[in-house]
Amino acid sequence: MRPRGYFVPRNFSLSRREYETGMCGIIGIVGKSPVTNRIIESLKRLEYRGYDSAGIAVQADRKLDRRRAQGKIRALEAVLAASPLTATVGIGHTRWATHGVPSERNAHPQRGGRVSLVHNGIIENFAELKAELQKAGRVFESETDTEVIAQLIDSYLDAGQAPLAAFKSALDRLTGAYALAVLVEGHENVIMGARKGSPLVVGTGDGEMFLGSDALAVGPFTNKVTYLEEGDYVAIDHDRAEIYDQSGVPVDRPMKIVSASAALVEKGNFRHFMEKEIHDQPEGCQHTISAYVDAISARTAMPGDIDFAALERIQIVACGTSYIAGLIGKYLIEQLADLPVDIEIASEFRYREPALRAGSLAIAMSQSGETADTLAALRLCQAKGLRTAAVVNAQESTMAREVDVVWPIHCGPEIGVASTKAFTAQVSVLTALAVAAARARGRIDAAEEQRLVRVLLEAPRLIAESIGLEDAVRAVAVDIAKARDVLYLGRGTMSAMALEGALKLKEISYIHAEGYAAGELKHGPIALVDEDTPIIILAPYDSYFEKSASNMSEVMARGGQVVFITDPEGAKHAPAGAKVVMTAPASDPLISALVMSAPIQLLAYHVAVLKGADVDQPRNLAKSVTVE
Ligand code: AGP
Repeated sequence: MRPRGYFVPRNFSLSRREYETGMCGIIGIVGKSPVTNRIIESLKRLEYRGYDSAGIAVQADRKLDRRRAQGKIRALEAVLAASPLTATVGIGHTRWATHGVPSERNAHPQRGGRVSLVHNGIIENFAELKAELQKAGRVFESETDTEVIAQLIDSYLDAGQAPLAAFKSALDRLTGAYALAVLVEGHENVIMGARKGSPLVVGTGDGEMFLGSDALAVGPFTNKVTYLEEGDYVAIDHDRAEIYDQSGVPVDRPMKIVSASAALVEKGNFRHFMEKEIHDQPEGCQHTISAYVDAISARTAMPGDIDFAALERIQIVACGTSYIAGLIGKYLIEQLADLPVDIEIASEFRYREPALRAGSLAIAMSQSGETADTLAALRLCQAKGLRTAAVVNAQESTMAREVDVVWPIHCGPEIGVASTKAFTAQVSVLTALAVAAARARGRIDAAEEQRLVRVLLEAPRLIAESIGLEDAVRAVAVDIAKARDVLYLGRGTMSAMALEGALKLKEISYIHAEGYAAGELKHGPIALVDEDTPIIILAPYDSYFEKSASNMSEVMARGGQVVFITDPEGAKHAPAGAKVVMTAPASDPLISALVMSAPIQLLAYHVAVLKGADVDQPRNLAKSVTVE
C-alpha cells in the first residue's frame, strides 16, 4: 500500500517506513508573516527522513530565541504552546543524531554567542576546532559537532568580521559534510546557508525567501527551487539570494519549478534518479555510518546482540550488487577480525544443500529486502538453526521482519533500478561491522578501533571528492560507449569493484562487460584483449598496486586500451601508456571501495546516457526481483 502523499514512480511500491531513514531536515524562512507555524508545517513534511529531536530558532527585534524538544514534532509543539515564539524570520530542524545522544541539549538549533544554526552532516575535525575554541575561553553546552560551527562563526564575529565573512571564514575551517542554515543576532531579515556533501535548496516566494534540505521542505511555500551546488554558500533576505561558490565568487544557479507531488522522490537538478542517487551518496553514507559508530568516542556501535567474539563463521547470501557488497565485507571482516566469512549467490546456495553449522551467523544483503532467492536462502539458514541478520534499506520488508537482527542502511529510497547509494551504504555497514568484530575478538585495541572509525567517518567527504571526477568520466564514456566488450580488473576489494563496475555497465548500457580478479587475466581472459577492448583497471596505491601495474603492462602490450583509476600516489607510479589515468582521492584501504564506487557508477551512467538507454528502468530489469 503506497503511503498517502508520497510520490513514487509506477510499478514501485514502498511502504511508509521505508522512508524512515536517518536524514536531518532543515527549513529557514525570511518571511513577511509569522513563521513559527510554517516552520512546524515544513518539519512535518520532513518527518519521513527519520529523526529523534526537533527545534526552531527565530529572530525578532534584533534578538534570537529558540525552542527545542527531544522526540517527535508534537513534543516541540507542546513546548511552543507553553512558550510561543513570534517572528517573521526563523529556522527549524529535525535531527538524526550523529554526534551526541538524542536530547534537548543536543537538539538543533545549536548556538554560539550571537549565532544560532541548524546542520545536516558530519564535521570530521570538530574535536580539534572545539579544543581550539575552548582554549580561547569558549564554553560549550552540547556534545554536538554542530555547536562548534556556531561558536566558530561567533569567534570570527568577535574578530570584527561581518556576518557573511565570518560565515565563510568558518566554512573554510570545516572538514566533512554539511548543509547549514544560520541566524546571526542583529543581522536582521537574513539567513545564511551553505552545502557540502549534504543538499540544500533556496526557495523563492512572493516577498519571502526560503532555505530547505530538499524541495519538499520548501514545498508548502513555493515551487520555485534553486539547488545549491557543492561548496556553495548563500545569504537570503526577503527578495533575493546572493549565492557564492566555494572560492567566494558570486554565481547564478538555475531556478527550477518543482511539482509538489514529485517533491519527495524528486530528481532535483538531475536527469535521472540514478544520477541523483550517485550524488546522494555522501549524505547517504554519512547517515548510514552515523547509525553504526559513535562519532564522539570514535567507537563502533553495532545495534543488536550478536556476540562477535563467540561467532565461528558468517554466511552471507545475496544477489547482484548486494552480493558484491557482501564480497567486500568478506575481505574486510576476515582481514580485520580473523572471522571466517562464506558468501554465495543466493540462487545457487538455496538449492545445493550447503553444509551449515549452528554456530554461524547468516547475513542477508538486500536493498529491497524482498529478493526471492535471497529470502529463500535466508529461510534455509533459519531452518538449519543459524541466527540471522539482514542488511536492508526497506525496514518493513519481509527479510527485515523475519531475521533476528536488522541492520538498516539508512540511505533513503533508491528508485533507479541500478543500485548505487544502497551499495555504498551496504558496504559502509559491513565496514563498521568488520571493525566492531575485530574489536570484540581482540584483534585490534581501542586506539586502532578509533583510528579505523575516524577513517570511516572520512568516507562521505572522500566520496564527494571522487564524484568530482565526473567531467573526466564523462569524457571517457564517449569511447566506452563505442565498445563491444569491456574488461574491468582489480585486486583485493578492487576485484569485487571490478565485478560491480561490469555489472553497472551491463545492466544500464547493455554493453557486454566482465569483471575479473586481475591475477586471473593470464588464465584465459587475456585472450579477449586487443586494441578494441577498453580495460578499466581499479588500482589505488595499496599493497596490490605493483601487481596491478604489471597486469596493466600485460594488457597494454597486447594493444589493450587502459583506463587506470587510481589515487595520487598511484598516478605517480603508473606505467606509461594508459589511454586515461583518473585520480580518485587518496584513502585508507578500509574505505577504498567506497571511494572508488562513484567513478565506476558514473562511467556506467554516462555511457548509458550516450547510448540513449532507459537509465532508471533498463530493459528486462526490475528494482526488486521478487520472483524466482
Ligand atoms: C544492481 O544494480 C541490480 N539492480 C541488482 O543486481 C540488485 O542488486 C539485485 O537484484 C539484488 O537486489 P536487492 O539488493 O534488493 O536484494
